[in-house]
Order: sequence, then C-alpha cells, then structure tokens
Amino acid sequence: MHQIDGKTRVLGIIGHPVGHSLSPVMQNAALAACRLNYVYVAFNVHPDNLEESILGLRSLGVAGFNVTIPHKSSIIPYLDGLDVSAQSACAVNTVKNVDGRLIGFNTDGDGLVRSLAEDLDFLPGDGDIVVIGAGGAARGAVASLCRAGASRVIIFNRTPARALELVESFSLMSCTTEILIAADSSELKAYMKNASLLINTTSVGMNQDVLPFVDLADLSNNGRIYDMVYAPSVTPLLHQASKIGLRAANGLGMLAGQGELAFQIWTGILPPSGLMKSCLLNICDS
Ligand code: ATR
Repeated sequence: MHQIDGKTRVLGIIGHPVGHSLSPVMQNAALAACRLNYVYVAFNVHPDNLEESILGLRSLGVAGFNVTIPHKSSIIPYLDGLDVSAQSACAVNTVKNVDGRLIGFNTDGDGLVRSLAEDLDFLPGDGDIVVIGAGGAARGAVASLCRAGASRVIIFNRTPARALELVESFSLMSCTTEILIAADSSELKAYMKNASLLINTTSVGMNQDVLPFVDLADLSNNGRIYDMVYAPSVTPLLHQASKIGLRAANGLGMLAGQGELAFQIWTGILPPSGLMKSCLLNICDS
C-alpha cells in the first residue's frame, strides 16, 4: 500500500451494515497495484444520518465512494447530478466528487455485462435473455443490457405486477431492446426454449433455497446461466446447471466488474485485469 501522507485521497463505501463488504480489500489491492495515493475505507451510515453523512463527505473532499444497501435509491436527492447509468437504473452505487459536486453513477449493470463476457463468453446481442426478478438488481441489469445492445429481454417475476411496472418504466426510455414479460410458468418455459442466457437477479439461492418455477432443462444445450448470488459460490441453480452440463457463473465476477468500473470513474484508469476477482476468490476461499 502507498504510504499514507498529507496528500492521500480518501475513497470509501457507505452502507448499513457495511462490515461484511468485500470492496475495501479489492479496492485497496488495486490502488496499491497501481501505486495510487488513495485509501479506501468502510463507513457505516445509519439511514437516519444519510443526509448529514453526504454533507460531511462532500465538505471533507472525499474523492468518491461506493453506495450499498440500504442507500442506493435514498441517496439520490442528496447528490448534485446523475450519470445516465444511475438515471436508468434509478439507483446509485458509485459517487464521484467533481470539484465539490457529487455525481452519482451505477456500475452494477455494466459490471454484469463485463462479467458475462469474461466468465461466460456472452455478449448482450448473442440471443434472448431471460431475467428472473423485477427488483432493483433486475432494473440495473436490464438497463445495462439494453445499452449494451441486447435484442430481446424477457422478465419473469414471482409477482407479475412488479415485472409489468419494470417493463413500463423502460418503455419511456430510448431503448431498442424488445422487453417482454413471461406472465406465468408456462410462458416462462416457452421463452426459455429459445433463450441463450438466464440471469437470476433475486436473492434466492443465498440460503440454499431453490428458485420456484425455473427448470433449467427447458433451456437449449447452448443456454448459459448467470446467478448474481455469489455466496454460497455454488447455489442450487448453479448446481443444477452443472448436473445437466450447462455453462454457468456466479455473481463474483459482477462484484469485481462493478468495482473495476467504479475505480476507473474515480482514478481514470482500470486496475490490472483479473486482480479484483482474484482478491475476491482469495477472501471467499479463506
Ligand atoms: P434487489 O434490489 O436486490 O433486486 P428487491 O428490489 O427487494 O431487491 O427485489 C427482490 C426481487 O427478488 C424481487 O423480484 C422479488 O420478487 P417479488 O417482486 O415477487 O417480491 C424476488 N424474490 C425475493 N425472494 C423471492 C422468492 N423466495 N421467490 C421468488 N422471487 C423472490
């Protein structure tokens, strides 16, 4: 790590709780590898203190910070501007201090697109994409897949009304991607037959539970599976994929990808390829 001195710039992450965050380890490793005079720390910010904390971070001249649960949407009113990535995701995971103005970005969705390419050799234009879930994570994913040239995205959610809300919000944006809803399990089955990729954006799998309605046997032999869950590293969905010989990846690459893109926003450079992912693998294996 660079010697901390009078010129060291501060980066960090705000969340509540935040002690479990893997970002400080991977960001500090990347800063050290690039010999940049920054330090990255975790700030536990209670929702009641969010506004004051943002005022403090701005006036202390913090160079930038990540934003995690539960502040990704509630931070928006306290920022001075939003990049298109944050506008379309309606959420912020990265803030950059630009001469005292705090600008919000969202690198989660683009981190997913990066991980799909690296971990599954999948480009958004490669075929139909089925997205399971219609919450904040799904919104960010669909926004980035649209920007990256996906031709058709099909959304399936346990609560169909929420999927409809998500699709309607995208109809207001200039997006050439066709976004459809699978209204029930039989429609989902039919869409899965032609899909090239299925993405789980829900938290189902974290507790070894199984995604309802999804049967991977409905996908073609070339279908790929991406599970945003990364702990456990082999979720029941990924276990099912490996049993039937389908290519699959967990969300660790997305976590690394969003971090690499945030790092680039703050410092102007990308960290060495693969460094953040290998840090995460070391932490998760130990
Ligand atoms: P996030 O920001 O992580 O996406 P969220 O906005 O709360 O979190 O959305 C959670 C998503 O996971 C929703 O699509 C939710 O489905 P509902 O809209 O029906 O609630 C989905 N989800 C959570 N638990 C689920 C479960 N046990 N089975 C199926 N879907 C589930």
